[in-house]
Order: sequence, then structure tokens, then C-alpha cells
Amino acid sequence: MGDRVGDKVAIVTGAGSVGPGVGNGKAAAMLFAREGATVMLVDHNLEAAQESERLIKDEGGECFTSRADVSNSEDCNRIVAECIERYGRVDILHNNVGIEIPGGILDITENDWDRTIDVNLKSVFLMCRAVVPQMVSQGGGAIVNISSINGIRTLPALSGAYGASKLGMVALTREIAVEFAEKGVRANAVLPGMMRTPFVEASLTDAWGGDVEDMMSARDAMIPIGRQGEPWDVAHAALFLASDDAKYITGTTLVVDGALTSGVHIQP
Ligand SMILES: NC(=O)c1ccc[n+]([C@@H]2O[C@H](COP(=O)([O-])OP(=O)(O)OC[C@H]3O[C@@H](n4cnc5c(N)ncnc54)[C@H](O)[C@@H]3O)[C@@H](O)[C@H]2O)c1
Repeated sequence: MGDRVGDKVAIVTGAGSVGPGVGNGKAAAMLFAREGATVMLVDHNLEAAQESERLIKDEGGECFTSRADVSNSEDCNRIVAECIERYGRVDILHNNVGIEIPGGILDITENDWDRTIDVNLKSVFLMCRAVVPQMVSQGGGAIVNISSINGIRTLPALSGAYGASKLGMVALTREIAVEFAEKGVRANAVLPGMMRTPFVEASLTDAWGGDVEDMMSARDAMIPIGRQGEPWDVAHAALFLASDDAKYITGTTLVVDGALTSGVHIQP
């Protein structure tokens, strides 16, 4: 156990995992707890968050779980109030919730568009609006928003709503960073590339023709580093941005993609 975010209270949204294994949110929650934070695990799937709670407590970490739909303002206000009532502060807000409904713009329904924007982008606004006054009153805090390289690149499984929501998160991150810089609130976005997580299997398998292993090898082959990233790679980037090591870093993006957005993969 380390101390990189010792004595801090962190809220992690989407702290469960959509399938068996470890996703980005679960890894970040576990890493924050390993590094000394008390973590509030938020998910609309209570059982998924409770699985993360069990893993953290088995390692001796401090956490508790609360069920919420982060696209709903009442839920967001309630969980932030609950965290403050319990611990008196919120030092880290890690906005990890995201859904992806693949489809080109002629395929995606209006309903899927609205849902994607609500769950991926409006949720960040709602959670930040609920948390920032507390961070200001306690002298500061750190917000980490999990965006995607899909906000700056189009990837093989087309998804206009997803890409738009993820670039929207970057703009919102910058706005918050500038508006609250003098108040000690930092906001940064992590842009993961192709990570091997349950989220990919759940969201993209159909769009790739239905074979998970085929999809995974095709994704590995596209990346200059030769393989997809792990959820822990995203979690370590988030830990850095959330910690005081990043005290002069705000309003920026950190790409975690094995050089995928740097250029095409040149086969030797
Ligand atoms: N895996 C990748 O390749 C990749 C790449 C880039 C970005 N990302 C981003 O990483 C994040 C996903 O990380 P993950 O691996 O933890 O995903 P995940 O889908 O495994 O877990 C997210 C959790 O969010 C919960 N959730 C969904 N909608 C919710 C809502 N409205 N309110 C509360 N909880 C809700 C789900 O129940 C789930 O437990 C997303 O933001 C995604 O866009 C992933």
C-alpha cells in the first residue's frame, strides 16, 4: 500500500465493471484505495460496485458503495451530499462512466444519441456542478475525466455520438480548469486508446462481427506498441493527475494509447 493520495476522499463513478474482470473504473477505484484514499464507489449497477468494494476491502482499503444514475441530477446531488456527510470533504472526482452504442450517423437513433450524450457528457457536468462548491470551500480538489481518443480520432467501430460526447468532455474539462484555477480545483482528462476491458467486449463485439478474439487481435495489430492497454494503464494516469504530483497540471489531456494516435502501425 502506498500514500500517493493518502488522506484524500475520492468519488469514482462507474466503479463497477460491465462484465467479469477489471475495467477502467474498477482499476482506478482499487488503485486510489491502494494509495491511501477513501473511495466512494458509485454505479447504477449496485452488484458491480459491491464487487469492487469486496476487492478493495480484501486488500485492506477503505471504501463504501452508493447506487446512482449519474445522468440524473438528483442522484448526483444525493451521492455528493452523502459523501460530504460521511467524510466532510471530496478531494478527487473521477468521472469514469461511459457507454458506447456503435453506428454511423445514418444508423444511430435519436434516442441512442440522447442517451449517449446524457450518460457520457451531461453526467460530467452534473457531477462537477455538485462537487465543485465543496472543493472550493475546502481549498481545492482534483477532477479526472475519462474521455477517449475517439474524441480526436475516428476508430473502426464508427460511433458519432460516442466520439462527440468524448470530445465534449475535453472542452468541459478545459472550461472547469480555467474557471476554478484560482480556487485550487484542477480538472484534466485522460484519453485512453484501445484498452482490453470488459467494456470493449460488451460494447463493440457485434460491430466487429461477433468474434471477441478476432476483434481483440485486430485491435492489438493496429497499435504501434503491439497490444491493447490494460485498465491499470488508465488508472495509473488518473492516479498521477489526481495526486499532488500533478499540482501544476490542469486543463490538459493525457493520451494513454501506445502511440495509436501518433501514426499508423508500420509492420516490420
Ligand atoms: N476500454 C476501452 O478501450 C476504452 C477506451 C477509451 C475510453 N474508455 C472509457 O473508459 C470508461 C469505461 O471504463 P470501464 O472499463 O470502467 O467501463 P465499464 O462499462 O466496465 O464500467 C462502467 C460502469 O459504469 C456503470 N454505468 C453505466 N452507466 C451508468 C450510469 N448512467 N450511472 C452510473 N453508472 C453507470 C456500469 O454499470 C459499469 O459498471 C468509459 O468512459 C469509456 O468511454 C474505454
